[in-house]
Amino acid sequence: MTNVAVVGVGLTKFGELWEQSLRDIAVKAALAALADAKVNNDIVQSLYVGNMSAGRFIGQEHLGALIGDSLGIPNVPAVRCEAACASGSVALRSAYLDIKSGNSDAALVVGVEKMTDLQTDEVVMTLAAAGDQEWEADIGLTFAGLYALMARAHMHKFGTTREQLALVSVNNHSNGKNNPHAQFNMEVSLEDVLNSSLVADPLRLLDCSPITDGAAAVLLVSESLARRFEQPIWILASEQANDAVALHDRKSIVEMLSAKMAAKKAYEKSGLGPNKIDVTEVHDCFSINEIISLEALGFAELGRGGKFVESGAITLTGELPTNTTGGLKANGHPVGATGVRQVCDITKQLRGDSINQINGAKIGINLNVGGSGATAVVNILSNELVV
Ligand SMILES: CC(C)(COP(=O)(O)OP(=O)(O)OC[C@H]1O[C@@H](n2cnc3c(N)ncnc32)[C@H](O)[C@@H]1OP(=O)(O)O)[C@@H](O)C(=O)NCCC(=O)NCCS
Repeated sequence: MTNVAVVGVGLTKFGELWEQSLRDIAVKAALAALADAKVNNDIVQSLYVGNMSAGRFIGQEHLGALIGDSLGIPNVPAVRCEAACASGSVALRSAYLDIKSGNSDAALVVGVEKMTDLQTDEVVMTLAAAGDQEWEADIGLTFAGLYALMARAHMHKFGTTREQLALVSVNNHSNGKNNPHAQFNMEVSLEDVLNSSLVADPLRLLDCSPITDGAAAVLLVSESLARRFEQPIWILASEQANDAVALHDRKSIVEMLSAKMAAKKAYEKSGLGPNKIDVTEVHDCFSINEIISLEALGFAELGRGGKFVESGAITLTGELPTNTTGGLKANGHPVGATGVRQVCDITKQLRGDSINQINGAKIGINLNVGGSGATAVVNILSNELVV
């Protein structure tokens, strides 16, 4: 089976993009990825679109064909992939498997979501449909509510503190301050987070990722094609694991077993362990999830994620720079685009052209989570094929 590389990345600005349609931003990100790779659209043999809920957000379905047509490649096989907030990652993984299987040599992945055309209550109910509608959403459990339950349980069982949660947001906003693509460029202090409005106890406004429009794209190619590009970034592993949709059906709510399993498989496939990782992107949809994710990826023992954050390890100068462009918290979280955006940002770190470049970064990992952990995808990328 061939190896697979990322040879082009493209992002739109994330935020409230009322003057642009979903089609506009998807095309913009895709063209940016092709331009970054210095190729035209005729290289694309398959198109994968990550999107959670355009049908409910803007009333548009059939995104594969729509975006293929808008990109001038109407006859290229195109499909939309959905797995809630991990939609972008399952699209990327499908493209990766497509190339690995020998079906195509070049696949374009576009993650896109247009969320801000609806009012907050409608957005929250649309997102809640990615939980268990019958057992969670119908009784008023929003995603903020679900992650608040996980946060409370983590605090109760391990002594994780409110301040440790807040430090996640402080770090990610600090990393996002120079990011031209990010929704928010403001820094926030510990006190700002602790005093922001309560959303779902113990989570406050500044613990939450916002509601966002945005698109991200990557061009993946097979090893034989990759050799023609200047700086291919290799996908050493792309692994997925799932779990029950409803929180109460999980073995544990203080850890994310799907993420743990996906990470274990990715480490096995790549032959690497957490000690080899230079830079990471994790799914901080709510601050607690960054702590749970760092534990799932093996950077901190179960229950010690809060202390790991408190130690300063996740900062740009720490032992594990995390969410170096601002994470979901500052970048924003256009749900279908996030997993692709994470891979764009890791790719830039490994090429040496990130806005917050970590010197000597060679290997990166990302974790993108769907819902409260029913889907998890982990990718390990490297600037060398043989590590
Ligand atoms: C937390 C939340 C409810 C706030 O929405 P809201 O109350 O409608 O907020 P508004 O859009 O009215 O914004 C009010 C202000 O807060 C800011 N704001 C909104 N959400 C923010 C966030 N998450 N972080 C920081 N600031 C935020 C806005 O920019 C605005 O600032 P301004 O007054 O200076 O312009 C919403 O962001 C949310 O639901 N987030 C979670 C999304 C989610 O669940 N994603 C899926 C994860 S699994």
